[in-house]
This record gives sequence, C-alpha cells and structure tokens, in this order.
Amino acid sequence: MKVLIVNGPNLNRLGMRDPSQYGSETLADIESHLRERAESLGVELDFFQSNHEGAIVDYLQEASQDAAGIVVNAGALTHYGISLRDAIADTGLPFVEVHLSNIHAREEFRHHSVIASLAKGQIAGLGWRGYLYALDYLVETIERT
Ligand code: DQA
Repeated sequence: MKVLIVNGPNLNRLGMRDPSQYGSETLADIESHLRERAESLGVELDFFQSNHEGAIVDYLQEASQDAAGIVVNAGALTHYGISLRDAIADTGLPFVEVHLSNIHAREEFRHHSVIASLAKGQIAGLGWRGYLYALDYLVETIERT
C-alpha cells in the first residue's frame, strides 16, 4: 500500500517559520517520523511539497494512480485552493486533512477549509504528531475496507 504525504506552500519553512504556531520540527524531521511509522505499519510513503498549487495538482494526477490514500496539509491553499480541491476529489482516494496549528482558534479566514467536506476527517492543532495520527487512521481504515 502506498500513501501520499502532500504539503503545500511555506511548509518547506517548518522549523524556522513561526515556531509558536508550527513547532520546531522541520519538514524533514516530520518526514523521518512518518517513515519510521510507515515502516512499522508496512506501508510505502511518497512525499511531496510544493509552494505552487499547479505543481501539487500535477503531482496528484500522476501519483494517485497507484496510491491508496493521502495525508494532506495544504497550507494556505486549504482556505482558497479550488483547483487543489478539484484535483483531490478527482483522485477518488480517501484522505485526512492535517494542520499543525489549530486553524479554528486563529484568524477567521483560516476557519474555512475548501477540502474539509471531502476529507475523512481533519486533524488540527496537534502539531507534527497529527501527521502520524492521520497515517495510522488511514492505514487502519483502508485495511479494514
Ligand atoms: C497550516 C495552517 C494554514 O492556515 C497556514 O496557511 C499554513 C499551515 C497548519 O499546518 O497549521 O501554512 O496548514
């Protein structure tokens, strides 16, 4: 089973960017936590980060073909990225939306997610561990169905 881990704009800056909201782990640290967990779950991961919505759309069109699910932190695209939403919908894959910060406790423009209604669920505010919980949930759900 292959799970896609997709990160949107500015998440390449984790570790340096506003640690009070996003913590001190870098994206590479998060990737290594996830790879460790994936190994124990016996699943393959494919990682992708881009600051460009179209590049994420291209990636999803290609990589979703042999994937079983997606963990996505779309960054700011969460709040307005309609072409990203359409691309995720088009994959037909189950996915979990992750945010490091609690978007519902922040500025009002962050409260709305254009992808949430398509997601299995959303994890927000639990920091980098949210990615692990999302992976655990996805793998368990996919294996059960
Ligand atoms: C974020 C929350 C978004 O509002 C923000 O634009 C991000 C990161 C999070 O992980 O908390 O870039 O998705």
